[in-house]
Amino acid sequence: MKHDNGRGSFSGKMGYVLATAGSAVGLGNIWRFPYLAAKYGGGAFLLVYILLALTFGYAMIMSETAIGRMTGKSPVGAFASFSKRGWVRAGGWINAIIPMLIVPYYSVIGGWVCRYLWGYISGQGDAMALEGTFEGFLGSPVATIAFFAVFAAMTMAVIFGGVRNGIEKVSRIMMPILAVLTLVVVGFSVTRPGALAGVRYFLVPDLRNFSLMTVVSALGQMFYSLSIAMGILITFGSYTGREVDIEQTTVQVEIFDTAIAVLAGLMVIPAVFAFSGGNAAALGKGPSLMFVTLPKVFESMGGAWIGVLFFLLVLMAALTSSVSLAETACATFEDELGWSRPKAAALVSVILAALGSLSCLGFNALSHVAPMGMDILSFFDFLTNSVMMPVAAVATIVLVLKVIGLDNMEREIMRSSAFHRRGVYRFVVKYLALIMLAVILVSSVCDAFGWIHI
Ligand code: PHE
Repeated sequence: MKHDNGRGSFSGKMGYVLATAGSAVGLGNIWRFPYLAAKYGGGAFLLVYILLALTFGYAMIMSETAIGRMTGKSPVGAFASFSKRGWVRAGGWINAIIPMLIVPYYSVIGGWVCRYLWGYISGQGDAMALEGTFEGFLGSPVATIAFFAVFAAMTMAVIFGGVRNGIEKVSRIMMPILAVLTLVVVGFSVTRPGALAGVRYFLVPDLRNFSLMTVVSALGQMFYSLSIAMGILITFGSYTGREVDIEQTTVQVEIFDTAIAVLAGLMVIPAVFAFSGGNAAALGKGPSLMFVTLPKVFESMGGAWIGVLFFLLVLMAALTSSVSLAETACATFEDELGWSRPKAAALVSVILAALGSLSCLGFNALSHVAPMGMDILSFFDFLTNSVMMPVAAVATIVLVLKVIGLDNMEREIMRSSAFHRRGVYRFVVKYLALIMLAVILVSSVCDAFGWIHI
């Protein structure tokens, strides 16, 4: 039965899968995955990522969606409906706060995408491919903030206007085009001279490239890319009923999301080998990697049109994700503080403007501010992905084990699904999850403080 508490619901299975895939596929797949894979081990990273997604990611998505469906509430209310104890409430809030910290810096990267799109539209495609263009752009406080503001305004326009349905219709058309276009760019990228070494680096695991950081970064990336541990899936689950086979849809979303990430890796990493050599410096470029290498691929494909098309699609994929982040943040204020939508959206806008501008300035006017040795954007990324999300995931797993009970969870899941991978689910939730999360959390924090080197 659907929860009829006036919060609206998806039209059915297809609506749920589309919304979840629209939220999952975004900058995380196209921008973040390739640079992490390049930096932290290539094929070793890919292998660890896939293993984690099939076990850990699977168990987390199933748990969150089922919790949402059981309670019919967004994270804060969902956690609180099981118990009023302090840690349970805190667990709900940490899930809800994460999107508010992500959406500002997500919008800053969205601004970079807008900058490149504008570059191609206005006929400066060649300039985009020049060495130093990206650094020059980042160095300008005015330019970075202006393009960030454009992207943030688009996101908030959707939130204020409530045209969420429109966006979902757009993603129905856009997702397939994005997939096809990605294939075309992959085709070009892997056939550049010297690119094959990159294909090998990305697809063939080499244990010499493996480090603890491979696991830490792959886990953070998996949370980020699948929109796990930030309340999104609890909220989406609350919009579904028994007609949605949670197990089947989870597998579909995981496959689609991972496929786009792998294609993005095949677009970017071989190009790094073809155009910049495959040395550690070129591979370790970090957040700028996509913006530095892809314009070179487009230039060699010989047309600005491909740049326009590509960045337009990335922009749309990014928008569906940022809207779902901002939407969750708004919903929390509405549900928990009893605020009206405009008031909630206004507060989200203020947080977005303040934290987003800070991230922009971290590359120029405030570049001397380097929390834990990182620029401000990377710091927010680290704080949310490597610290807060593991904590949020711990809260969810402990809630399942200690408060809801594994048996009750399984009963909820089996209301709609055959639950073929029940054994995997049980094993991960009972034994694997907490140990891994503890290892990841401790090691990434120690690494960031410079206490150990992983
Ligand atoms: N999963 C999105 C991406 O890969 C980011 C995101 C996280 C979107 C959380 C919504 C919620 O880009």
